[in-house]
Amino acid sequence: MKRRPLIAGNWKMHLNISQAKELAEQIKQSALKAANCDVMLAPSFTLLPALAEILKNSGVILAGQNVCGAESGAFTGEISPLMLKELGCEMVIVGHSERRHIFHEDDSMINKRLLGAMEHNLTPILCIGEILEAREAGKTFSILEEQVRGGLQDVKVTNPQTLIIAYEPVWAIGTGKTASVEQAQEVHTFVRSILTDIFDKTIASQLRILYGGSVKPDNISRLMAQNDIDGALVGGASLKFYSFDQLINFS
Ligand code: PGA
Repeated sequence: MKRRPLIAGNWKMHLNISQAKELAEQIKQSALKAANCDVMLAPSFTLLPALAEILKNSGVILAGQNVCGAESGAFTGEISPLMLKELGCEMVIVGHSERRHIFHEDDSMINKRLLGAMEHNLTPILCIGEILEAREAGKTFSILEEQVRGGLQDVKVTNPQTLIIAYEPVWAIGTGKTASVEQAQEVHTFVRSILTDIFDKTIASQLRILYGGSVKPDNISRLMAQNDIDGALVGGASLKFYSFDQLINFS
């Protein structure tokens, strides 16, 4: 079965308010033509109110870049799922490789964040991915299985729209190196088999698995042609209108 693709822009820690507004306006117009996919933007937290205003009723989905597992409390520097919801977010990225590797978030912390998001009807995009040394040592599948099972501990899914996975090989993020389409498809098939084991075949066959890591206008079509690639999580190329426009209007 074909799942509806999602093209998701992760703006990371980039753009000031006026730059963000200008880009969001352009993307909103372009997304009206993008009939073949859902479009999502994850700006930094300070940009969320401005984007919520611009994207209201546009169909472009607003997302946070991270979320705390708890609703409120003494968690300096964190953001609650209720706060994201209040600003109109429908999705949130959890376990991004930069969170895992720079800020040392582990599977158990990522799992708490994911559970907190789901409890408040925010759809988490659980990011997984191996570092280069792991791939070279032949450990890709075992690492990914650990990340999927760890991240999804105690998770129940009845509606497949409520969870998204993003495979982002760490060696391909921001490096200009993309996994080959065969490498990506192989991992996506593997991840879907783990999801079948955790949930069931019907749910697993409907969950979207995005690919991320140097997705650009010149490789999007080949990636999207793969059976198990259901969209893209895009960093660098989501920060420029000319490239993101081509990504959301891929054919
Ligand atoms: P990139 O980033 O597209 O710049 O490689 C992807 C990501 O970090 O989600």
